[in-house]
Order: sequence, then structure tokens, then C-alpha cells
Amino acid sequence: MSVTTDTIRDTHMARPDDEERDYERAVKTWSAGKFDDWPNEAGFEGLTEIRGPVELKVTGSIPTWAAGTLYRTGPGGYTVENTPKGTFKTTHWFDGFAHTHKFDIVSDPNGPKGLVRVLYSSRHQAEDYVDAIRQTGRLPRLSFGQRQDPCIGVFGKLMSVFKREEQQPMPASANVCVTVHADLPGLVTKTEQTTSGHRTRSKALFLATDASRLQEISPDTLEPIGLAKQQILHPLLKGPLSSAHAQRDPETGDLFNFNLDMGLYATYRVFRTNSTSGTTDILATISALDLKPAYIHSFFLSPSFVILCIPSSHLGYMGISVPWSGNIVDAIEPFDRSKICKWFIVDRRHDRGVVATFETPAGFFFHSINSFEDYNEFTGDIDVFCDVVEYPSTDIIRAFEMDVLLNNQDKEELYLKDEQRIRNCLPRVVRRRFRVPAEKTGKIPRIAETIFEIKAPHAGELPTINPDYATKRYRYVYSLANRGYSTLHDIIVKTDLTTRQTLCWRGPKGHTPGEAIFVPRPKHARDGDGDGDEDDGVLLSVILDGFNKTSYLVCLDAKTMQELGRAICDWAIGHGFHGLHI
Ligand SMILES: [Fe+2]
Repeated sequence: MSVTTDTIRDTHMARPDDEERDYERAVKTWSAGKFDDWPNEAGFEGLTEIRGPVELKVTGSIPTWAAGTLYRTGPGGYTVENTPKGTFKTTHWFDGFAHTHKFDIVSDPNGPKGLVRVLYSSRHQAEDYVDAIRQTGRLPRLSFGQRQDPCIGVFGKLMSVFKREEQQPMPASANVCVTVHADLPGLVTKTEQTTSGHRTRSKALFLATDASRLQEISPDTLEPIGLAKQQILHPLLKGPLSSAHAQRDPETGDLFNFNLDMGLYATYRVFRTNSTSGTTDILATISALDLKPAYIHSFFLSPSFVILCIPSSHLGYMGISVPWSGNIVDAIEPFDRSKICKWFIVDRRHDRGVVATFETPAGFFFHSINSFEDYNEFTGDIDVFCDVVEYPSTDIIRAFEMDVLLNNQDKEELYLKDEQRIRNCLPRVVRRRFRVPAEKTGKIPRIAETIFEIKAPHAGELPTINPDYATKRYRYVYSLANRGYSTLHDIIVKTDLTTRQTLCWRGPKGHTPGEAIFVPRPKHARDGDGDGDEDDGVLLSVILDGFNKTSYLVCLDAKTMQELGRAICDWAIGHGFHGLHI
């Protein structure tokens, strides 16, 4: 199948009319299996820990108002040599060993006006976890998707299922590296405890994953300093699973998340931790005979509601499949269209619990993008809009296995040569409207209305927005899209959700972008330069140059998607998940 060059690959700007054409070309290009990136295992192997800080060479210009600290977290190593069972190899991208990176972007007081310096440091956070693998050849804890050792046998599996967790685990004994959070309420942190006898509001930094466990790390040295469970926030938050993407109310700073407990029934407890008092309230306890436990990576927060969507990623045997399989991926039941998505709208203003339920067709998502509301003053109804990066099946979860990403041993061909599976692995941004009546509805679920869908590569994964627009009506989403030239992502795309026009940044062949974090231009820095629009800011993204086995931090003008400057590393930074700019 020939591929013409007139695609989003070669036009930095794409029109809405091009969506279907670019989607079909991405399918065909991906099917051809000629990838530009991952020519070697850069980004996966030999990743360097640099406790630094070391100064990076800066080219171009990074605005002084983007000064601050950018934290990035993700996997930074995938193999352990010399275990009793030989070399241990991680089989899923999400199970690589935690490695967090820090870019300090600072104004240079001695340099010319407007010049910034970038200092870099990094640290592994799972050294005790890796040591345990070195001693046994096995993972010491449940994983996301590590294929089971076939030699473990039924007895070994039973022992794994009933293994008790240690009471006071070492800080580096868990592998937590999906999201970064600052100053989580409700936790008396190790950072605070060590500050002269009484609590102070020192900055504290936490790493989170889709388990109910958090790891505290030093915001300065990145050293792991403590592990905590959600249960210390509230005794009922005792389930093992949660969302890596806890959300904060943009005005109050209150924290929202859910905890999933499994047993005879699945029980989802949606909770709020007050940012001032540190107390935690259970906003809703959601449990029913026909409600399954599911793997859920994120949820939605609107001004009035917490919106929990239970997608089609159901965990088998009411969740017992997770400890039995040793991982979440193998515990997910086969996808089928009968496993419709169930939505629960939970009141967070007046504590009325679940006020409405909805259903949408079967599917899966990792990432919510944003949620906002329209209030009807005549009826009292509230229209809740939820934007999400969605897939038509759960196939994408296995597309992140290492063999698939690295195109190893023809596994990628086996998994992604099938055109339907490629279509299932290309995401789309979907906006849905949920009409929530003023009065609580009965138990009969309502049908949500789909407002629009924007297919890849006009939108992609790891979505970000201007953080000032969280829970508000907004226009732009920044994400990583795959035009079929990568096994993962190959461009950063800015999607205008109003006009459906897109702009993209692409690097040279083999340059793979990471999540693009939006830093808004502050008011004091406008001074005739910026316009204060939603897209008046910069994007910071760590790019992996697979050919040279190096990485760089690129700074893009979010309005034009043109590069302003970059800070260059002489080493590769593992292709990570999420980050935080403070
Ligand atoms: Fe995520």
C-alpha cells in the first residue's frame, strides 16, 4: 500500500476535513511496520541516574517566566542481571523501574536579561524493589502486566494470593512512577516531620500509581523517603486499587480520588480530602451485584461533581484474578460489547451521593482530559461535559508490552499487523454531555449524548491543557499522536476543540516526544508580549532521540507550536509517563 506524502506528517497544520484521511493513513502506515523510532533500545536500557545537579547546554531561548521545577517520572530500567533465574526482563512498559527526573529552570542573574539556565538531576526510586528481584528472579509485588513465571505453579500462586504485606516497608521497596503530586492534603509527610518538631508547610512531593499506595520523595534530592497507603486518610479506603490521576479542586485545593475494594462485591469509594483540615469524607460508596471491579486510570472532576466511569476493563472473578495472575493485565476479562461503560455522577457540593447514572457503549480509556458544566437556570438541570481519550476496545493495554514497543521477535507484527487491532489502538478525543436533573434520578441509567469525536492523529494520548482551565470550558488540548511512524507516539499535536483545526510539532526522524506540559505565561510577564489567551504559554516536553541515544527538553510556543529553545542532555532519559511543573 503506497502512502502519499500529503498528510499531517508534512503539513504542520491540518484541517478538520483531513481527519478521516489522516486517520486512514495512520492505519495504513502503521500496518506497513516501517517505524522511524526505536531503532535501538535507547529509552529502555542503560538509563543513567545523575544525582547532579548538572547544567545542561541551552540553545535558543526559554522564557524566564517558565522558570520553576519540572519533575518527570516513569520507568528507568527494565532488566536485572544475575538473578537466580538468569536475567530478569520486564515485559510491560508500565512495569519499568521507577526513575524520576528534575529540571530546574532558573533565571541567570549574571547572564544577559532573559537567559535561563537548566539544571538536571535524577534518581531511581525502586532500588530495594530491584534488589528483591535480584535475589529471587521474581517481582516482589503485584505488577501491572508482567507475564507470570510459568514455573511458579499452583502452590506458588496460592502463596502469592495470600501473602501478607509487610507493615513498614522500606521507602524504595515499591515501584511507583506514574504521576507526580505536590503537597497532598491529609498526609503528615516525612518532609514535615523532619522539620524542627512541628508541622510546617514544606513542599512535599509524592509519586502515585493505580494502586492505593503513594511514595513520598524528597523534592530536592528525589530520594525515596516514605511509603503511605490511602487508608491513612480514612479507615474505609482499604482497597488495593485507585487512580494514579488524583484530582485537585482548582480553587480550594481539595483532593479527590476513588478507592476500589474487591471481595464478594466490588466497592468503589469516591472520596475528598479537605486541603485545610486534612480530613477525608467518603462522597459515595458505589457497589451493586452487577457492578464489576475494573482497571481505571483516571476520572473526571467538574465544578459540582466527581464523575466515575467504569469502562470495559473488568477484572475477572470479582478481582481475585489480580493476585492469582500476579498482575492487572492478565486479570482483565476478554473484551466484549456487552461490557458497556457505566458512569456515576457524584455530588461534591451538597453531599447527595450518586445523583445520576449513565451508560455509554463498551470501550476503554486511560486519560480523562477535562470536565465542565452548563447550568440551566430555568430547569435547574446541569449539563456536564466530559472529554476523554478513548479506545473502542481494551487492545491498547497490550500494545504497551515491551516486545510490541520494541518490535522484538516479530511480536509486534503478531500483535499489530492486524488492521482492526491497529484501529482499536488509535485513540480519539470524545466529548460527551450528561444532562443531570436538578432532582436525583432513579436507578435507571440514562444515555449520554456524544457531542464530537476527533480521531488520531488529530488528537492523541497523554493529554494536557492549560491548568488554569481545569473544570472550565476550554478550547485547546495538547497530546501525543501516532501517525503510524512510531510504535508509540511521533508528534505533539495541538487540537482546537472548537474549530477542530490542529497544529503539530515533529522532530527529526527517530525523535519521540514525551507528555507536553503547559506552562501559562503569568500576568506580570505579558508586558505587551502575550495576549493572555488560553494558549498563551509554553509546552515543555522531553524528547528522546533514539538514533543518538540522547534526550532533550524542548520548549515550544503553545500558540504556534514552534520551538523556542531546548536544554540538551548527553544521555537518554527513559520514555516516561507524567510530570509536574511547579
Ligand atoms: Fe496516566
